[in-house]
Amino acid sequence: MNLTGLVENKFKELYDRQPLVVRSPGRVNLIGEHTDYNEGYVLPAAIDKAIYLAIAPRNDRTCTLFAFDKNESHQFSVDAFSPSRKGWPNYLVGVVDQLRKAGHDLGGFDCVFAGDIPIGAGLSSSAALEMGFAFALNHLFDLKIDKLALVKLAQKSENEFVGVHCGIMDQFINIFGRENNLLRIDCRSLEFKYFAFDFDVSIILLDTHISRSLASSEYNRRREECNEGVNAVRNRFPQVTHLRDVSLEMLNECRQDTTGLIYKRCKYVIEENQRVLNACRALENRDLPSFGQYLFESHRGLSHEYEVSCKELDFLVDLTRAIPDVVGSRMMGGGFGGCTINLVHPRAVDEVRAFVTRKYNQRFRSGPSCYITTVGAGTTSVKLDENATARIP
Ligand code: GLA
Repeated sequence: MNLTGLVENKFKELYDRQPLVVRSPGRVNLIGEHTDYNEGYVLPAAIDKAIYLAIAPRNDRTCTLFAFDKNESHQFSVDAFSPSRKGWPNYLVGVVDQLRKAGHDLGGFDCVFAGDIPIGAGLSSSAALEMGFAFALNHLFDLKIDKLALVKLAQKSENEFVGVHCGIMDQFINIFGRENNLLRIDCRSLEFKYFAFDFDVSIILLDTHISRSLASSEYNRRREECNEGVNAVRNRFPQVTHLRDVSLEMLNECRQDTTGLIYKRCKYVIEENQRVLNACRALENRDLPSFGQYLFESHRGLSHEYEVSCKELDFLVDLTRAIPDVVGSRMMGGGFGGCTINLVHPRAVDEVRAFVTRKYNQRFRSGPSCYITTVGAGTTSVKLDENATARIP
C-alpha cells in the first residue's frame, strides 16, 4: 500500500472519519551549504521521499498526534501545551504555538503521519513534518496564510520550540519545490529562480548512518562564529550586517582583526556563495562537468574550512572523486554525519553503488545505505474530503 493509503486507513481506524491527506517532501541541496543563515544563496530541490499527514478537525479543543512509524501518540490542548520529552511532537506543537502567537484561531484536530524520508540523514524530515503540518492546519482552519508566511512560521517554530537556529532553506524548498527543477533562493531578498534539472544524471544519496548528535550544538556554534566574523569586519566596513555583504578582499583586509579560525569559517561562506552563482551559470550553459566540480570544491571547504564533515563523509567523497562516471559529490546538510549527494551517470549507478559499498564496508565494518532519488514537487494536498474538512476553502 502506498503511504497516502496507509495514513488514511490508519486515521479511519483510529478516528472513524475521512481525513485530509497532505504530502510533504524531503529535500536535497545541490550546493550552498551553511549559506542560508548568512543571507546568501542556496540551490535545493524537493525529492520523491516524503511525509504524509492525515488530519481532520474535532469538535473540542483537544489535539491528538499519532506517529505511525514510532507507534507513539501525543495529546495536548490547543490552549495549553509545553515541549515534550519525546522529541518528535515538538516539531508539530511548535507550529501550533506559532499559529497561536500570530493570533490564529485553531480548534482541536486528530492527525496521523508516516513517511519514507530517512531520519537523521540530512534530508530535512523535520522541516517536512513542520511544513506539511502547517500547510494542513492552514487548509483545515481556513487561515489564509500565504506560502512565504508559512515558511517563516515553520522556521520560527523550529528556532523557538525545537531550539535549532536553522536557516530558511529547508522550509522554503519544501513548499516551493517543483518537479525536475532546482530552486536558487536568495536568502536575503527571498527572491527565487527555478533551474531545469533535466540532465541525464542520477542523484544518489549515500547515508553514513552516523548520528548527528553533535549537529545542533555545532550548528549553533557555526552561526555564532559567522557573527564574530561579521563583527570583526564591521570595524572597517560598518555597512556589513551579514557575511553576504563581505567579499574576499574585504575579509583579507581584516585578517589581523580576527582569529585564524573565524577567518577560515568566513572564507568558506564567502566562497560557497560565489560557487552557487557559478554553479547556476554552469547549469544555464548545460555544463554538467563544471557543475560537478563545484560540488567537489564545496565539500573541500566544508571539510577543511567550515569543519562540519566527518571521516565517513570524507571517505565517501574521496572514493567517488576517483570515479570518472561520478560528476560531483559532497556532504550535504548541516553535517557531522548524514548523507553525501552524488551526481552519477545513469549507466554507472549499479557499479558505483557496489564499489562504494564494498570499500566503505572494508573501512568501517558497516554499509552505507544508498538511495536513488528524483526531484519532485513541493508540499501539496493529495486527498481532500469536503465533508470532513468543512472549513477548507
Ligand atoms: C540545516 C538547516 C538549514 C541549513 C543547512 C546547512 O539543514 O536546517 O537551514 O543551514 O543545515 O546548509
